[in-house]
Amino acid sequence: MKNSFRHMAVAKSDLGFRLVVSCMLLLITDCQSAQEHFNKHVALFIFGDSLFDSGNNNYINTNPNFQAKFWPYGESYFNPPTGRFSNGRLIPDFIAEFAGLPLIPAYLDPHYHNKEFGYGANFASGGSGVLVETNGGLVIDLKTQLQYFSDLEKRFRKNLGDVKAKQLLSNAVYLFSCGINDYASLLRNNQSSHHHQQYVEMVIGNLTDVFKEIHEKGGRKIGITTIPQLGCLPIARAQQPCNTCYEEFNTIASLHNRAVSKKMKEMTKQFEGFMFANYDHSTALSKRMKNPSKYGFKVGDSGCCGSGPLRGLYSCGGKRGIRKFELCDNPDDYLFFDSAHPSEAACRQFAELFWEGESKVTSPYNLKAFF
Ligand SMILES: *[C@@H]1O[C@H](CO)[C@@H](O)[C@H](O)[C@H]1NC(C)=O
Ligand SMILES: *[C@@H]1O[C@H](CO)[C@@H](O)[C@H](O)[C@H]1NC(C)=O
Repeated sequence: MKNSFRHMAVAKSDLGFRLVVSCMLLLITDCQSAQEHFNKHVALFIFGDSLFDSGNNNYINTNPNFQAKFWPYGESYFNPPTGRFSNGRLIPDFIAEFAGLPLIPAYLDPHYHNKEFGYGANFASGGSGVLVETNGGLVIDLKTQLQYFSDLEKRFRKNLGDVKAKQLLSNAVYLFSCGINDYASLLRNNQSSHHHQQYVEMVIGNLTDVFKEIHEKGGRKIGITTIPQLGCLPIARAQQPCNTCYEEFNTIASLHNRAVSKKMKEMTKQFEGFMFANYDHSTALSKRMKNPSKYGFKVGDSGCCGSGPLRGLYSCGGKRGIRKFELCDNPDDYLFFDSAHPSEAACRQFAELFWEGESKVTSPYNLKAFF
């Protein structure tokens, strides 16, 4: 079994290599029209947590709980691992592909130091929340992500001039995956539930401030995702008696989702030209957990990589305090790659829904309409 797994890994990395080569050829043939292209394409800026982080946490002072730069992360697509919390590509990687853009680089990746980031940048950081306190000091909080974006904006203005820079920012699409870690940290700290409403308001207040600042800089097109039923993730169920869902976690996720949706509608009226694509990730994930085979998965409740019940212990890779972990043969059969993060196959499906889902999945716009 081990041998056949190895073969598969080789075959896949060979495919990866060919993909890289053909991408390079594409880039070369595209060179003449680069300037023209630069004026025409829509850039993609990415903010948020581990669902979107393409490797920024590799470059900060943190610990392996907040990193995924070791095998078997990335095993199906990237070699060496990039820091993405999955076996391969994430939702924003597929969005970039659908939009005809290259993979959007992690802002802190030293290979891109002082590069122009004309196609956009990824500022997301695994473990981060909307609030500065959430996993404070170990992640890049959303305020700092926004600060990096402001630095980049200044660079755009310097390099392109005010008019072109503004044009780039107002055409661009801004993706957010935020809030999950704020609520995880709230429940870890065992706050009594009558504070929950207040906490949700604080999270959304801070999130709204970020949207306002992006609007001020010219941004108009925002893509957000609802927060899933967190209490049913393998990582939450593994800690529950009889591995049932942790309902309090789900309740607060629903509270957040309702409040965000209301807030977005208000902002559309208050802020000129503001447009939202709100992708209902929560429903999409729940449907696949309940009925995995309908969506091409063999397993919907357990992780591919991890240990303990439902492989729900966050031990994938063996570097987070638990050395031993199990790894499935084919991550594509699994909805979850590790105890909390979707597999590449699942991310592709989610990205398709975000990109061109009908209005009961992604509304009032889908991302395709923005590009
Ligand atoms: C959380 O709070 C409840 C009630 O306030 C208490 O019974 C429980 O022991 C606390 N749990 C932890 C882990 O502190
Ligand atoms: C933002 O969060 C901080 C805590 O991190 C809080 O003190 C502040 O009131 C929040 N701002 C808004 C507008 O809710």
